[in-house]
Amino acid sequence: MTAMPPTSASEGNVPRHLAIIMDGNGRWAERRRRPRIIGHRAGARTVNLVIDFCIEKGIEVLTLFAFSSENWGRPQDEVSALMKLFANALEREVDELNRRNVRIRFIGERVRFPDTILERMNAAEALTAGNTRLTLAIAASYGGRQDIVQATQSLVHDVLAGTLRPEDIDETVLDARMALADLPPPDLFIRTGGEHRISNFLLWQLAYTELWFTEKLWPELDTEALQHALDDYAHRERRYGLTSAQILEKSA
Ligand code: FPP
Repeated sequence: MTAMPPTSASEGNVPRHLAIIMDGNGRWAERRRRPRIIGHRAGARTVNLVIDFCIEKGIEVLTLFAFSSENWGRPQDEVSALMKLFANALEREVDELNRRNVRIRFIGERVRFPDTILERMNAAEALTAGNTRLTLAIAASYGGRQDIVQATQSLVHDVLAGTLRPEDIDETVLDARMALADLPPPDLFIRTGGEHRISNFLLWQLAYTELWFTEKLWPELDTEALQHALDDYAHRERRYGLTSAQILEKSA
């Protein structure tokens, strides 16, 4: 992950990497007096809409928070229904995504998934590994703190093996062990559903990401709202701790 992407904002400035917390499926269903899983099913349709949007806009990476480490603690029937939905989506969508030149990738503790799903995740990654149009990273059983823990464990392992000196550990070295290390960092973060928090998503990777929140529930998100987020992003000045004058000088 490169430390400092371009800073200037203009009309044509499209994020390279969009990261999304898809929140509000349950409330969407409850407002219709339907079971929560109906909201998740509707949410799966929005996933397709967002993928289409990213392809059309030339966004390179889309990272979706599909299932957090903490979501395992939801009522068992909701977890089971989500697993079924996830398995069906893998079964149904992967070939079409492959045909559209989308590379699929999963981040998170995949070993916690049942074998049938785990195998489909591995197969989807293998099938689409060479695709170049859009990288779709799905955070599944993912937690930002856990991501930092696994990176730390990996560094400690190398220190104990004598292949890494503690004094050589810096931000770049740690960054290389984090999820999504080989991709540009998220430029724009969107959270639907009205909550204004990161909820243990990409804690390390979001350090300089522009944040955008909407009251719309995930199944209600449409192209107009996505375009609104992109327009807003295009007008932001990303300073990375520098001054406006310095940023102008760099981009001159
Ligand atoms: C958050 O809404 C959503 C989830 C925990 C699951 C997200 C899953 C999908 C969008 C469908 C499948 C996705 C893929 C990638 C196959 P919530 O249940 O927390 O909503 P609430 O805050 O209204 O309760």
